[in-house]
Amino acid sequence: MRIGVLGTGMVGQAIGSRLVALGHEVQMGSREAGNENARAWVERAGHGASEGSFEDAAAFGEMAFNCNAGAHSLAALEQAGRDNLAGKVLVDVANVLDSSEGAPPTVGVGTNDSLGEQIQRAFPDTKVVKSLNTMNCEVMVDPSRVPGDHSVFVCGDDVDAKDQVKALLESFGWPSGRILDLGGIRSARGAELYVALWLALWGAVGTGDFNIAVVRSS
Ligand SMILES: NC(=O)c1ccc[n+]([C@@H]2O[C@H](COP(=O)([O-])OP(=O)(O)OC[C@H]3O[C@@H](n4cnc5c(N)ncnc54)[C@H](OP(=O)(O)O)[C@@H]3O)[C@@H](O)[C@H]2O)c1
Repeated sequence: MRIGVLGTGMVGQAIGSRLVALGHEVQMGSREAGNENARAWVERAGHGASEGSFEDAAAFGEMAFNCNAGAHSLAALEQAGRDNLAGKVLVDVANVLDSSEGAPPTVGVGTNDSLGEQIQRAFPDTKVVKSLNTMNCEVMVDPSRVPGDHSVFVCGDDVDAKDQVKALLESFGWPSGRILDLGGIRSARGAELYVALWLALWGAVGTGDFNIAVVRSS
C-alpha cells in the first residue's frame, strides 16, 4: 500500500520505517520538501521510502498518518490539503502537549473535545482514526518490546476505516485481542487525556518502554 506519513520526528520515523520494512511504499511529508530529517530517514529506510511536502505525501498515500506536533497538526493537515486527504483513512497519533508553563506539560484540548475530533470536524471527508498515541513510538511499532499482553486503542466514526487500521496494527505485531475498539472519534478525549497519566507513569516506571494492559474477569 502507498502510505503518507505526515511528520518527520521520531514518531514519523518509527512508523515510516516499520511500514517500509513491511513492504509498503511510504512518503514522509514535512512543511517543505527536502527536510533534513526526512532526507536522512529516506537514506536509512531504503527502498520504498521517499519524502516530500505535506501536500506531496498526502497525495501519494492511499492512507496517511498524522505524526505532527499536536498544536500544529491542524495547520499541517490544512497544508496537506483537504482534497488530498478526502476519502482516505487518516491515523491520528498526535498529542497536544503545552509546556509553556513548565513541566509537566498540560495535556489535551480540554475535557469536552479532542484533537481527533477537531481533525474529523475540519476534514469531514476524511476517515479519522485515533490510535497509538498512548505509548512511546518504539512500542507502537514493536509491541514485543514490552513483555506480556498489553493494550492499544482505536476509535473513529468509520467502521471500515477502523478495520483497516486494526489490520495494520496486527501487522505491527499487535494481537487482535489486544486491540480495543473504543467506538466513535469522541473517545479520542479519553485516549488523549490518558497521556497525562502516561507522563507520570514514565517518571514512576523509569523508562518509556511500558504500556497498560486492560484485563477483564472472563
Ligand atoms: N514521541 C513519542 O514517542 C510519542 C508517543 C505518542 C504520541 N506522540 C505524538 O506524536 C506526534 C509526533 O511526535 P514527534 O516527537 O515525532 O514529533 P514533534 O516534534 O512533536 O513534531 C514534529 C513534526 O511537527 C511538524 N510541524 C508542523 N508545523 C509545525 C510548527 N509550526 N512548528 C513545529 N513543528 C511543526 C514538523 O514539521 P517539519 O517536518 O516541517 O519540521 C515535524 O514534522 C506528536 O503529536 C506527539 O505528541 C509522540
